[in-house]
Amino acid sequence: METLKNPPTEKKVFLETFGCQSNVLESDHVAGLLVRNHFTLTGKMEEADVILFNTCSIRQHAEDKVFSRLGQLVDWKRDKEGRVIGVLGCMATSYKDHLLERAPHLDMVVGPDQYLKVPQAIREASQSGQSQVLADFDPLYFPENDPRRLSQPHKAFIEIMKGCDKFCTFCVVPFTRGREVSRPAESIVAEAERLARSGVKEVMLLGQNVNSYGLSPGSKDKTLTFDQLLEEVGRVPGLERVRFMTSHPLDLSDELVETMARVPAVCESIHLPVQCGSDKVLKRMNRKYSVAHYLERVGKLRASIKDLFITTDLIVGFPGESDGDFRRTLDLLEEVRYDAVYSFKYSPRLGTPAARMLDPVPEEAKDARLAALNEKAWKHAAEKCEARLGRVEEVLVDGPADKTPGAFYGKSRQNRTVVFKGQGYRTGDRVRVRIESHKVANLYGTPVEPQGKGRGEK
Ligand code: SAH
Ligand code: SF4
Ligand code: F3S
Repeated sequence: METLKNPPTEKKVFLETFGCQSNVLESDHVAGLLVRNHFTLTGKMEEADVILFNTCSIRQHAEDKVFSRLGQLVDWKRDKEGRVIGVLGCMATSYKDHLLERAPHLDMVVGPDQYLKVPQAIREASQSGQSQVLADFDPLYFPENDPRRLSQPHKAFIEIMKGCDKFCTFCVVPFTRGREVSRPAESIVAEAERLARSGVKEVMLLGQNVNSYGLSPGSKDKTLTFDQLLEEVGRVPGLERVRFMTSHPLDLSDELVETMARVPAVCESIHLPVQCGSDKVLKRMNRKYSVAHYLERVGKLRASIKDLFITTDLIVGFPGESDGDFRRTLDLLEEVRYDAVYSFKYSPRLGTPAARMLDPVPEEAKDARLAALNEKAWKHAAEKCEARLGRVEEVLVDGPADKTPGAFYGKSRQNRTVVFKGQGYRTGDRVRVRIESHKVANLYGTPVEPQGKGRGEK
């Protein structure tokens, strides 16, 4: 429970976040808890008394970054009594107390379902010098946003489910986040309403596998399916945009496609990871769909939703992936022509079935495949941007553009970054921008309405 009765502390906390949107949301949640428990947050590591890393285990590289950060803190920890170092997030649940073997100067290891205990754990670690490991799962716990403490005032993530039951053979998430549990719909809608009342215009509903919302065994008492939930959230007064991720292609229902097409607040955008274009490899990945099924779903989406922005995740170099399998992935790219592709080299994860598979792909072959894939993906992304030239995009303003003086930036409904000239705009304004050029995957343009108009106030 929250520990408001605790005395004020002078301690300053530096919190660095790695990994996916779940971690971004949960870091905001932890930051809110710390402030309510009288800690101060600092953006400067050198000022801090407490350093927390919210970590990711998805690929080796993500973990290496954290191990290297921890290594750099050995002297820092020794230099002053009462300093605290903590690891939160997925490395906490994947390594638990083994983390203390790798980094004995670590004071606390706290998994995603135990964040309410973070303030108390810091106090105890600082006073007693004893290391603590709190990594159990708790299906009833969901992090909520504190509307006063959002990293961005106009946009928020809402966690609608957690864990994953899909067990793709390459993936560590079912182990770091536990079994799939859906959050009760009333609680989600209530959070969306609270956020909207505090000025939030856009929400992203988050889960590893949102399309199976309400269907997992841990969700017996839930009455809504994902499309119904999306419709409910889409009705919340004040919310102009609703997004969601991630969709698993197997569970993408016709009802969801129809809801996306019908509900005005739901944006024309979907992230639909395919992972690979070869049925043989998909099977070894345990993705549970075929390329034909995936293409049929994309066809249905495109036929129903005008101007749909489709993005995907792809892994190259999965064990046993041949040149022929990889060519099928390139063929799939050619067929779908994604708006954006997030591509990864396969990274073996301890404890996952794929890590025990024979026939690893040599590093050079992975590199070459990644390069070929990215070249094609960028060509398609550029073509998609070309197709927006001369069109008017509705942009939700994120703030002044750092690199372009006298300009602002925001996101289109499709979720492309748009930079536009102008002055005096505020975060959360809605502006109609005519697109004049593009650079890499960003669009550039000029507002259609005269300056200061079209701010979208209702
Ligand atoms: N739940 C989401 C994905 C979460 S992880 C989904 O199913 O789509 C985000 C992406 O990381 C995955 O889509 C996958 O492309 C990539 N990924 C996961 N495990 C990986 C691994 N072991 N090596 C390389 N990429 C991986
Ligand atoms: Fe991982 Fe697969 Fe679950 Fe996504 S659906 S989180 S890739 S196991
Ligand atoms: Fe990483 Fe955990 Fe997210 S492994 S991708 S932080 S769910």
